[in-house]
Amino acid sequence: MEVIVRPTTAEAVKLTAQLIADLVKAKPNCNLGLATGATMEAVYADLVKMYQAGEVDFSKVTSFNLDEYIGLAPDDPNSYRYYMNYHLFNHINIDKSKTNLPDGLAKDYDAEGERYEKAIKAAGGVDLQLLGIGRDGHIGFNEPLSSFASRTRDKALTPETWKQNSIYFNPPESMPMSAFTMGVGTILDAKQALLLITGKSKAAIAAKAIEGPVSSMVTASALQLHQHAVVILDEEAAANLTMREYYDWVFAHDRKWANYR
Ligand code: GLP
Repeated sequence: MEVIVRPTTAEAVKLTAQLIADLVKAKPNCNLGLATGATMEAVYADLVKMYQAGEVDFSKVTSFNLDEYIGLAPDDPNSYRYYMNYHLFNHINIDKSKTNLPDGLAKDYDAEGERYEKAIKAAGGVDLQLLGIGRDGHIGFNEPLSSFASRTRDKALTPETWKQNSIYFNPPESMPMSAFTMGVGTILDAKQALLLITGKSKAAIAAKAIEGPVSSMVTASALQLHQHAVVILDEEAAANLTMREYYDWVFAHDRKWANYR
C-alpha cells in the first residue's frame, strides 16, 4: 500500500482525478471501477473539467460502480445510478450503455450478484477501482465483518451507515436498509485500488484502515492485502497516521511520483 498526503482537499482530489485520467489516456478502453459519496463529487467535477478542456476521452471506457441501494429505481434522485449520471456521465462522452451498476430493482438478489460478477469478468476485470471509506471503515457497502472473500451480493447496512446516509433522503426513513455491493473479494481483484480519504471526520478510521491490523471489522484494511493499492488523503484525514514522515519521503523521492509532485 502506498500512502500520499496532500496539503489540501483540493490537491488530494486533483491527484486522484489525475491518476484516473492518466489511466484513461494510457488505456482508452479501460474498465474503471467507480464510487459514490460526497467525497467523490469533487473528483468527478475535476474529471468533467479535464474532459471539457479536451484532455481526456472517455468514449471507449467501460465503468462498474461499487454499489446500489436495493429498491431504488435508476431515476430515483437517491439512487447511485442517478448520482453517477448527475455528477459524471451526463457531462462526459462515456457511452452510457457501457456504464454498469447493480440493478436496485432486481428481485432475485443472488442472481443479480452473479450477473454483476459475470459482467465484470466478461469485460476483463476492473483496471482501477476508485474507493471512498465509510465512517465504520466500509468500502463499497462492505460493512464490518464482510468476508474478505465476498463477491457482489446484497448486504444489510449498519444503523451507523443508515443514520449517516439517511440525511440525503426525504423523509430520512425512506432510505433502504440494504444495498447490492461488490464484495471485498471483488474489490481485491481490481488491478489497482485507489482510495481517497478527506476531512477530519475520517482521521480515526483512516489510521485504522491504513496502519491498523487487517480485520474484517474495518473492511478497508483489506486493501493492505492488495498488490497495488494507493491511498490519497488530505492533511485533516491524515492527522492520526504515525508513519507520516515515510509517506512524505516516498512521494518526494520515488521517481514514479515525479510527474505528480
Ligand atoms: C457510501 C458508499 C461508499 C462511500 C461512503 C462514504 O456509504 N457506499 O462507497 O465510500 O458512502 O461517503 P462520503 O464520501 O459521503 O463520506
